[in-house]
Amino acid sequence: MVSAGSVSTDGNRETAIRRFGAGRSLLAGICLLLSAEAPALATARITDQALLGTGRDLFRSHCAACHGANAEGTTPDWQERDASGKLPPPPLNGTAHTWHHPLNVLVRMIRQGTMNIGGSMPAWGKDVLSDDELFAIIVWFSSLWPDDLFQYWMEMNRAESAGN
Ligand code: HEC
Repeated sequence: MVSAGSVSTDGNRETAIRRFGAGRSLLAGICLLLSAEAPALATARITDQALLGTGRDLFRSHCAACHGANAEGTTPDWQERDASGKLPPPPLNGTAHTWHHPLNVLVRMIRQGTMNIGGSMPAWGKDVLSDDELFAIIVWFSSLWPDDLFQYWMEMNRAESAGN
C-alpha cells in the first residue's frame, strides 16, 4: 500500500503526501506535489517513478478490466450508448475527454461511481482505495496525457482551487 516512505524519500514531497493524507483534498495534494517538484507549475509533470508505478499497478488491478491496461479504453466507440442507454468506459489516457474535468470532479466520479446517475461504473470508496492510492492512480493516468492537455487541466485545477 502507499505510504509516504514508499512514495518518496524526498523531504518536500513527503510533506506534500503527508498533508495530503491528513485530510487535505486531492487537489491540494497534487498542487503541493507539483510545487515540491518544480516551482514552475505550468510546465511541471510528475516524474516520481515510484508514485507512477504504484498508480499504474493499482489501476491495473482495479480499473483496467473496463478502462484497459494502459487506460486506452476497451472500444473506439466510447461515445456511443448501448441499447440500455449506458456509455462504455472511455479511455483515460488523454484520447477522450477526461482532462476536461477538474480534479475534484474526477475524484467525485470515481468515489461515487456512476450507477446512481444511470451509468455502470462502481463506486470506489475509501475502504477499497485510500486517498493516497486514488491520488497515485490519478497521477498515473494523467501522466499519459500530452503536455498541452495536462497543462490545460492544471490551469483549470488552479482556477478551481483559487475559487474562481
Ligand atoms: C465495471 C467497469 C468499470 C470499472 C471497473 C471502472 N470504471 Fe471508470 N468508468 C466506467 C464507465 C462505464 C464510465 C463512463 C461513465 C458512465 O458510467 O456513464 C467510466 C468513467 C470513468 C471516468 C470519467 C472519465 C471521463 O472522461 O469522463 C473516470 C475518471 C473513471 N471512470 C475512472 C476509473 C478508475 C480510476 C477506476 C478504477 C479505480 C475505474 N474507473 C474503474 C466503468 C468502469
